[in-house]
Amino acid sequence: LLTIGVLVSGNGSNLQAIIDRIEDGSLPARIACVISNKADAYALDRAKCHGITVHVLDHRIHAGRESYDAALVELLRSHGVRLVVLAGFMRIVTPVLIGAFPHAIMNIHPALLPAFPGLHAQRQALQYGVKVSGCTVHFVDEGTDTGPIIIQAVVPVLDDDTEDTLSARIQKEEHHIYPEAVNLFAQGRLTVDDRKVIIAPAS
Ligand code: GAR
Repeated sequence: LLTIGVLVSGNGSNLQAIIDRIEDGSLPARIACVISNKADAYALDRAKCHGITVHVLDHRIHAGRESYDAALVELLRSHGVRLVVLAGFMRIVTPVLIGAFPHAIMNIHPALLPAFPGLHAQRQALQYGVKVSGCTVHFVDEGTDTGPIIIQAVVPVLDDDTEDTLSARIQKEEHHIYPEAVNLFAQGRLTVDDRKVIIAPAS
């Protein structure tokens, strides 16, 4: 069984989607811990409801990003984590975390990367005037939203969309593709070659 650690900062709807698929038996994984940089993240309540161990690691008590990430690595290792899942974790991670989990950190981003990286991806999409957008699950590398792409899903952008309506449409797809990407990892079907992710067929 794949042991995962989930990093959150907010609502945790993607965490919930992963929990739901573990509980319905379609995702062979175990969430060893949920770690938040914010004490009031609703994601922590979701985790506790399902009997999952939670930790708050406050970034304000660490001198810098590297020292924060070193504490994260120690905590994740103490739980035997093999895959780190960033689920609305609103912090830039450093080589300290990335080097400790090579090709074993995933992130979800609310745009079709490489378009609209960084903050407010849905607002960027609306301002640009694209007709489709979507979401991307990717391995985390040292850039911002630049790592090898695992799965993407597309949604239409409608003329009367607001940031909220577009975000909601995108999130619905996130809740399908994120658990699926974790599932592919759990089945050992993901390899990275020349920065590209290859998905092995189901055996
Ligand atoms: C998700 O929509 C995710 O794509 C986005 O934060 C949301 C978290 O929702 N991530 C980013 O914008 C990363 N730059 P959740 O807490 O309900 O899973």
